[in-house]
Amino acid sequence: MPILPEPLQDRQGRTFPYLRLSVTDLCNFSCQYCLPDGCTETSHKTAIGLDEIRRIVTAFAILGTNKVRISGGEPSLRFDFMDILQTVRNVPGIDTVAVTTNGYKLDKRVGNWLSAGMTHLNVSIDSLEPAMFQRITGHNRLDEILRGIDHAFAMGLPKVKVNTVLLKGMNDKELDRFLGWIKDQPVTVRMIELMETSDSIDFFNRHHLSGQVIRQQLADRGWTQSIRADNAGPAQEFWHPDYQGQIGLIMPYSKDFCADCNRLRVNSQGELQLCLFAEQGHNLRHLLQSDDQLPLLIHRIQELLNLKDDKHFLDYGLTGSTRNLSIIGG
Ligand code: 5AD
Ligand code: SF4
Repeated sequence: MPILPEPLQDRQGRTFPYLRLSVTDLCNFSCQYCLPDGCTETSHKTAIGLDEIRRIVTAFAILGTNKVRISGGEPSLRFDFMDILQTVRNVPGIDTVAVTTNGYKLDKRVGNWLSAGMTHLNVSIDSLEPAMFQRITGHNRLDEILRGIDHAFAMGLPKVKVNTVLLKGMNDKELDRFLGWIKDQPVTVRMIELMETSDSIDFFNRHHLSGQVIRQQLADRGWTQSIRADNAGPAQEFWHPDYQGQIGLIMPYSKDFCADCNRLRVNSQGELQLCLFAEQGHNLRHLLQSDDQLPLLIHRIQELLNLKDDKHFLDYGLTGSTRNLSIIGG
């Protein structure tokens, strides 16, 4: 038996059971905070292939990762999306295959994704009001997304997470509508503070809203903050005895947000991204070309992890090289 490497750990003692893998930067929505003019530039054609995906995930699994989130852009725009799900699911050591999607044609597709091996689903819904949904995303598709979620429950998925970017003047009066929606269904709505990216500075200045506002509204309505589990993600979670669903608040601008960081990212060109807001990615692609390179790949990932900073520098207005999040999928 070869000796397995130690699980990944950085200089701050953080471990990384969770890999976010973007499989394309292509997106068919045009969310105002991300791609207001739609996807104009894309490297979709040169995105990592199935073998490369299998090798990345294998290396991370050997290094202690058990959960992979497949994101984009919109990952389901990959014609081989079903094969991607199966490939990732079949890597020994991976027990959780999550998908982050904008929900495009979710009603028609979610059944196949579940059959192919998806275990967790994360859908972006920025408004439950169809006209506002369309204004934010450029698409009148809220109904098909909501039907898709119903369908996922009917197929046996125990819970679903929804991402909602908090937008002042757009969806900031919708808390009660979201609460009504999750009263009888196990949906966690995660309200995410808008993050500044270099393409969206004006939009950010007009629409950024602190999650504290929602925190107060939840407290006024009798919601209580859950005690954080050790492996909790970046969300503060809130519950209420009369509701099946939960609310999460993701406040990247809050102090200590990065202290529990447990994820690394690889983008669709095979670059390791140590932080969502890092200045640069680190190319791994030359080490993804044959199965024989696995030891080198593992060694390179371990080496790069030493460069991970203890926090992002967003609060200094430093957004890194991240122009918008379609490139690495949030
Ligand atoms: N700020 C916060 N969240 C963002 N997302 C994309 N861009 C931003 C931003 N600038 C979110 C999307 C989606 C997830 C993949 O990332 O809404 O829910
Ligand atoms: Fe597409 Fe997601 Fe960006 Fe919206 S936020 S444009 S769905 S990548």
